[in-house]
Amino acid sequence: MHNQRLNIGLFGLGVVGKGLLDVLHESGFSDAGIRRICVKDPLKPRAVPRELLTYDAGDILGDPEINVVVETISDPDAAFEIARESMRRGKHVVTANKKMLAAHLPELLEWRDRSDVSLLYESAACGSIPIVRTIDEHFGSEPVEGISGIFNGTSNYILSRMSLEGLDFETALRQAQASGFAEEDPSSDIDGLDAKYKLILLAAHSHGVVAKPDELLYLGIRHIGKADMDFARERGMKIKLLPQCIRSSPHRLAMYVMPALVGADSPFYQVEDEYNGVQLQANFSGHQFFRGRGAGAFPTGSALLSDLGALQGGYRYAYRKHRLNGHTSLDASRLLNVYVRMPGRLHSASLPFEQVTHESLLEDGSRRMLGTISLGALHRQSRQMLREGIFAMQLPDSFEK
Ligand code: HSE
Repeated sequence: MHNQRLNIGLFGLGVVGKGLLDVLHESGFSDAGIRRICVKDPLKPRAVPRELLTYDAGDILGDPEINVVVETISDPDAAFEIARESMRRGKHVVTANKKMLAAHLPELLEWRDRSDVSLLYESAACGSIPIVRTIDEHFGSEPVEGISGIFNGTSNYILSRMSLEGLDFETALRQAQASGFAEEDPSSDIDGLDAKYKLILLAAHSHGVVAKPDELLYLGIRHIGKADMDFARERGMKIKLLPQCIRSSPHRLAMYVMPALVGADSPFYQVEDEYNGVQLQANFSGHQFFRGRGAGAFPTGSALLSDLGALQGGYRYAYRKHRLNGHTSLDASRLLNVYVRMPGRLHSASLPFEQVTHESLLEDGSRRMLGTISLGALHRQSRQMLREGIFAMQLPDSFEK
């Protein structure tokens, strides 16, 4: 597609879909028009002309005039069917659905190549930060050692409100939901899943590895409490939910999502509220840091708009690292320096520590432990930790109690 007019079929008119309509309108992007919008609920009032609306996906998929499908719905299964069917019918796809992408990327890329169309998803990772195309294009040839960041606006917003204003977890979560940052089911935000999907997408471009969602450890902030916030504050540090992909040897990557204690010297320390931050460590350029709004209607709409502009210029992701790093695999043996707080009825044997360097009973009756655990062992135990109400975070390698 080169300089062709974009006739868009839009799926979904929630926060993100509506955000796209608004930024398209305000930007004056004149080479694109919304031809049809498919929504689920016929009873919900919508602020768009009635003739644009349809409740039947076939009205978009079967319309030969529609050359681009933009997907902003939250159901990953429906989003996958729409993306696959659109590409099968020769339509380009722009999607914000990170869960769907993380689960089906290889198959989607087969359809993309078979139909010779584009599949773009800047809006699926880190909202307004232009990171997917930057990594794919600019860092397509330079080896990347590591990528890490704050990829979830909702959890970062909650952590900010807890640390800056002393709000409790539930109140801060309700505020994030009211602001339109949270997923339909916010457990994906607070348990680290949303950040994991985004990590999978970025690592596919930065390291050429398409990890399966089940292969990665993810721990979130559901069980964070005042004792944890106090622990960080007393040391002049903050807690952030950090997805990380680190090259541990030439062909092995440690990839995981868990809260981490960060000091004032970390670029993540100052990233607050719904802002996201991405740190990239590349071989020749060194550290790069990107910061911007990670959630909300306009920031996400901005990323969708950027994809539409790129699409009009004929852009497709190159995935150069897939060819360069074909034999890279995941490394579960990495030892992590961790802080764990668990209900007092549990004890150190409840977790597969390699070593415990500190253990104490806290005033609230919970038990705090510091020590080391391997990434793989923590992964195997992680669902049970969620059920048992255990909070864990990574400590810096240089951490001293
Ligand atoms: N729920 C997501 C977040 C929205 O809070 O980051 C943007 O992907």
